[in-house]
Amino acid sequence: MITVKVPASTGNVGPGFDVLGLALTLYNEISFEESGDTLDISGCPEKFANEDNIAYKAFCETLAYKGLKAPKGLKIVFKSDIPICRGLGSSSTLIVGGIIGANAVHSLGLSKSEMLFIANKLEGHPDNAAPAIFGGLIASSVNDGEVYVADYKVNEELKFTALVPDFETSTEKAREMLPENIKRTDAVYTVGCLALLLKAFECADKKLLAAALDDKLHQPYRKQLIPGFDDIRKLAIANGADGLIISGSGSTLLAVGGPKDFEDKMAQGLKAFAGNWRVLSLKADLEGAKVINQD
Ligand code: HSE
Repeated sequence: MITVKVPASTGNVGPGFDVLGLALTLYNEISFEESGDTLDISGCPEKFANEDNIAYKAFCETLAYKGLKAPKGLKIVFKSDIPICRGLGSSSTLIVGGIIGANAVHSLGLSKSEMLFIANKLEGHPDNAAPAIFGGLIASSVNDGEVYVADYKVNEELKFTALVPDFETSTEKAREMLPENIKRTDAVYTVGCLALLLKAFECADKKLLAAALDDKLHQPYRKQLIPGFDDIRKLAIANGADGLIISGSGSTLLAVGGPKDFEDKMAQGLKAFAGNWRVLSLKADLEGAKVINQD
């Protein structure tokens, strides 16, 4: 049996819409074993335990990429700490896990770039799969059909707090809310935030972080899907965070920075908001997905 450990990720990281992603210390462990002659999936809700399972599809797609057939029998076991459909890259962990699982089970020798190419084909945007594969803060861009990747430093002092509500947002709906065209001034503002953010993450510069954790491409449109967003942001900043962004397309919100008691204060303050918010204290994962067990 082969077990792959894949980190959660936050897509966009504020101004890097569809481009920037950060791997986080929350994990999905997925085990694969080719045996028997049926598909046997466990450790996930019953409705996902079938041939439409994303990790299974990614496993088969990876074999097809190398001209190989889907296995006759496959056992897949999930063990995950990542909230599902909350903007923390849980579906990317399934895709990346399936690809790395197939690569390991069949000794395919795929490079990380090839893995990202397959993942992007399956997911449609690389901003979660790239940090899940490489770890850390990664920019990825699809130019002329090729996925280009650049990695940036994350200062080890930086802490991240995921605020996870009990409601989901649909990525499809959250994408539909975005306008086709944006004003040049909004584009310039967002490019400026992105450029500042990359330096701010490297230096943990509080002033730069406060200015850079913003955008005018997606969050102003999407925040309506998260009741209380503006007040929760104010609360996070009043409690000492450098900024608060929507994680991916939501519904999780991600606070950057904050003092030691930040999580406790947020847990207390969030009781006033609908959504039974959970508070998860995280760091950047700098290693990316890896095989942790190979019998
Ligand atoms: N970049 C994507 C979006 C991430 O914001 O729609 C969601 O998975």
